[in-house]
Amino acid sequence: MSTHSKRFENKTALVTGGSRGIGAAIVRRLAQEGAAVAFTYAASDEKAKALVASIEADGGRAVAIKADSKNAADIQRAVSSTVEQLGSLNILVNSAGILGLGSVDDFSIEAFDEMYAVNVRAAFIAAKAASPVMERGGRIITIGSVAGSQSRFPGSSAYSMTKAAMVGMIRGLALDFASRGITVNNIQPGPTATDMNPADAPYLDSIIGLMPVGRLGTADEIASMAAYLASDEASFVTGASHTVDGGYLA
Ligand SMILES: NC(=O)c1ccc[n+]([C@@H]2O[C@H](COP(=O)([O-])OP(=O)(O)OC[C@H]3O[C@@H](n4cnc5c(N)ncnc54)[C@H](OP(=O)(O)O)[C@@H]3O)[C@@H](O)[C@H]2O)c1
Repeated sequence: MSTHSKRFENKTALVTGGSRGIGAAIVRRLAQEGAAVAFTYAASDEKAKALVASIEADGGRAVAIKADSKNAADIQRAVSSTVEQLGSLNILVNSAGILGLGSVDDFSIEAFDEMYAVNVRAAFIAAKAASPVMERGGRIITIGSVAGSQSRFPGSSAYSMTKAAMVGMIRGLALDFASRGITVNNIQPGPTATDMNPADAPYLDSIIGLMPVGRLGTADEIASMAAYLASDEASFVTGASHTVDGGYLA
């Protein structure tokens, strides 16, 4: 039984990249607090099915939509399918993302284009498709990264660029949508325990050494900020990037 109050009763949400990691934690949190939640994924059919089943077993409503963020038509279809199946769209969370590291010397242009498409272009397309169907009180949230504020390691130029791009994009979107009563915010997680940061990664010890709290964050800790930004309590918060990083950037 959830101890959370039902802040999202009668609300609907679409979370991109919701099959695993931070996106899945956000799907679970919004559903626990009463939202009907659609989410996209690219490859993890079994994980997507299992997430829907576990939310339904708890009495919630979830819909999995296979939609590749590299493809504009897939994103547009995910938005329209959410409205068709859930009846509206109040909250859009862009969490789908990929991490590619490597020195510019050997980073391929194809890898650059793919990461830009998934991490940046897809969020713009989703906001463009979702905002016309959102009513006042709508919420758009993107998942950036502390890498958008500080690169820290060599080999991170392309990934950091995609995350810094979100900082600028959400400022502009916030201004575009302010008069329509839709807020737009970006979350910048620090290193968080997901498949993107597997427990056996060779660099993990050095990252944990940089964490003032001495550990990685959990996906649920990032979901807490997403739930706050999605809630009515955050009605005066827009155009801002919010760091949730255990003091990593402090
Ligand atoms: N983990 C961290 O330390 C950390 C820190 C800062 C920011 N972030 C950001 O947080 C977000 C989520 O990361 P995560 O750690 O949760 O990653 P993750 O565990 O690797 O999960 C990535 C999610 O994105 C989906 N996805 C990937 N490519 C996609 C595509 N082309 N189309 C649709 N969905 C796609 C995946 O779907 P499939 O399961 O189908 O592949 C999966 O659901 C990303 O934007 C990431 O950059 C993560």
